[in-house]
Amino acid sequence: MNENRRVIVAERPRYIVPTVNCFRLETAPMPDCGPGQLRIRTLCLSMDAQLYAKLQRISPDAEPIRLYEAMTGPALGRVEASLHPDFSPGELVSGFWAWQDYVVSNGRRLRKLDFSLQRSTHALSAYGASAFGAYIALQKLAPAEWGETVVVGTALGGLGNIASQIAKAKGCRVVGITGSEEKCQRGMTALGLDDCVSYNAPDFADRVRTACRKGVDVFVDTSGGKVLEAVVPLLQRKARIAACGLMATPHFGEPAFRGRFQNTMSFMFEVINRRITVQGLVIFDHLRQSLRDFHRDMNAWIDSGKIRPMEDIVSGLEQAPRAFQDIFEGRNVGKRLVWISD
Ligand SMILES: NC(=O)c1ccc[n+]([C@@H]2O[C@H](COP(=O)([O-])OP(=O)(O)OC[C@H]3O[C@@H](n4cnc5c(N)ncnc54)[C@H](OP(=O)(O)O)[C@@H]3O)[C@@H](O)[C@H]2O)c1
Repeated sequence: MNENRRVIVAERPRYIVPTVNCFRLETAPMPDCGPGQLRIRTLCLSMDAQLYAKLQRISPDAEPIRLYEAMTGPALGRVEASLHPDFSPGELVSGFWAWQDYVVSNGRRLRKLDFSLQRSTHALSAYGASAFGAYIALQKLAPAEWGETVVVGTALGGLGNIASQIAKAKGCRVVGITGSEEKCQRGMTALGLDDCVSYNAPDFADRVRTACRKGVDVFVDTSGGKVLEAVVPLLQRKARIAACGLMATPHFGEPAFRGRFQNTMSFMFEVINRRITVQGLVIFDHLRQSLRDFHRDMNAWIDSGKIRPMEDIVSGLEQAPRAFQDIFEGRNVGKRLVWISD
């Protein structure tokens, strides 16, 4: 195959959710590598909610991709050709690169996967950005102790399934929150959640209260919105919140959501009154200090069977736009990956 298919950003999201029309599949000639470079065959792409910032400016720290350039994200690949002294054909590498069949790299910010992985996809699920976020949330920002009650938002997603399993490995009672009863059932059987509540249940807040009879010590918040509202009244003294993300943002435009920002006042009142710690997660702040510990602990948890990464794999580069849209509509069950090539 001498051509290089790539997914470009064709337009900005129109209605917040990044739908498939934001992307277009194009074909270009296969790139050659020059001196000091290597060519990588992409094997797998990771669909992360954080990549939204590549499509739309949502923070002053993140520059969106220019229109008609290739979408980028965490990826796994095999070195196919190398004129770089540190890389040889056949080696597995992970990094952050364009959604395309082949990429040329100068080797910077590539990670050689020369340690044993039970499955190569674990590089993006168990050892990827979402899993690292889960680790930082529960080890650093909102540390959970044995016997405490931990509530995990988007519990069957990339970050959530790992956070749920880390909290179980620490001996906590873990209550998952997700978007459907089916996902809840799956979370209880596959992740060992002690309880799980769908935020689409009409009696959602009551059910969260019943599931967290002794209150909530740690909350891994990935959505804000009504999930946050249901959990705040249950927070114990000295509770900790890891503020990881705002998946409920797409609902801001709905009539039912309008005018509800007044709740932030009562939230801050509870933060003060109950001495609650809220820490925001930005994984890049922790790479230097905690990446090595993360790999060590994740190796141990996987070897002992305490963590079984939940993966949701779709096949074909052309499916990447749909696979990405899906995670903003809750259609993934586990870490959503796109398998490109063997
Ligand atoms: N700050 C950081 O450094 C950092 C790093 C990694 C991840 N994160 C955050 O962690 C969260 C999960 O990211 P991920 O990449 O692992 O994605 P993911 O959980 O695999 O997929 C996103 C999930 O969001 C949920 N969702 C979609 N619409 C929703 C809505 N309106 N309200 C509530 N939930 C909704 C869906 O699950 P349901 O079916 O349960 O709704 C979906 O599975 C995101 O908030 C992301 O920003 C932050």
